[in-house]
Amino acid sequence: MTNDDWSALVDTTDEWITTRTGIKERRFAADDQSTLDLSEQAALRAMGDAGLSADDIDEIILATDTPELYTPDTASLLQDRLGCRTIPTYDLGGSGCAGWIQAIDVARSRIAFEPKNILVVGVELISRLISWEDRATCVLFGDGAGAIVMGPGTGKATLVDVISGTDGSKADILTLQTGGTRHPFTVESAAAGDHQRLDMKGSEVFREAVRRMSSVTLELLERIDRPLGEVALLIPHQANKRIIDAIGHKLGLSEDKVFVNVDRYGNTGSATVPLGLWEAYGESRIQPGDLVVLTAFGAGFHWASAAMQF
Ligand code: UT7
Repeated sequence: MTNDDWSALVDTTDEWITTRTGIKERRFAADDQSTLDLSEQAALRAMGDAGLSADDIDEIILATDTPELYTPDTASLLQDRLGCRTIPTYDLGGSGCAGWIQAIDVARSRIAFEPKNILVVGVELISRLISWEDRATCVLFGDGAGAIVMGPGTGKATLVDVISGTDGSKADILTLQTGGTRHPFTVESAAAGDHQRLDMKGSEVFREAVRRMSSVTLELLERIDRPLGEVALLIPHQANKRIIDAIGHKLGLSEDKVFVNVDRYGNTGSATVPLGLWEAYGESRIQPGDLVVLTAFGAGFHWASAAMQF
């Protein structure tokens, strides 16, 4: 869906969206597709790339704010869809766009405790969550899914370290309140479209995003004792090209070292980082020997950074 497609529906322009966000188009799932369908496709491609079958998967963690159902978790439905054994599964929900890096942080500690293969999915069908009439939010998002399989030993890359953080005092800068126990669904709230009212203090989110993604990346590199100059590619959360540029500028990274695909997908929430990783890898922008850093932030307010040695 292009910016011009949106401008036919709400009071916006290609010029506004492009200059404020860098987004040119985004993909939306078809009406008959759901979170589970996108998760399945990403999972199958990750398992295929790893040379593993459903029997080889020992656990599933799925990060999403847009689950298939209210209950049970999407991960259990994915286990059945993929034909896995009766392995444990769980969703990591509500962490917004930082959810997938948080999930790989959880996965690595599970693997350190007991060697196993964990399928880690980041998926979002934000088109079902947002109001299609609110120009301040609808143009920003897209649907997508990405996945990796993590396991013990050496694969294509080693997860060197991850740092995650949360500042719950900033929870109110990005919320969707209706539908939880504090503000349950009512006929009135549904009629008013409150269940799709994404409250976002855009400029505050912008500032915090730049601050936190830059500082957690520096903290991580210091902890693993690797200088910025050794980073071959930074794959930041794709919410806004201006946010990405500001991080690159703050860190002093040249443009070719910062991955960008927000122009084609918009903000796909917890899927942006695994999607970016998959594209960068597929386009041979990642070579053996490369140090790749992933970073994200999201509602919560959560942030995280991960270092992968290819
Ligand atoms: O993954 C986490 C999710 N969220 C984010 O990462 C969002 C972070 N924030 C941002 O990316 C930016 O703050 C936005 C893209 C959301 C907004 O950009 P901005 O430069 O901060 O614009 P603004 O909020 O200051 O709005 C400027 C104007 C307003 O009009 P007035 O009040 O100045 O007359 C808005 O009503 O732009 C107006 N506006 C629009 N105009 C045309 C808001 N949305 C639109 C639109 N088309 N789609």
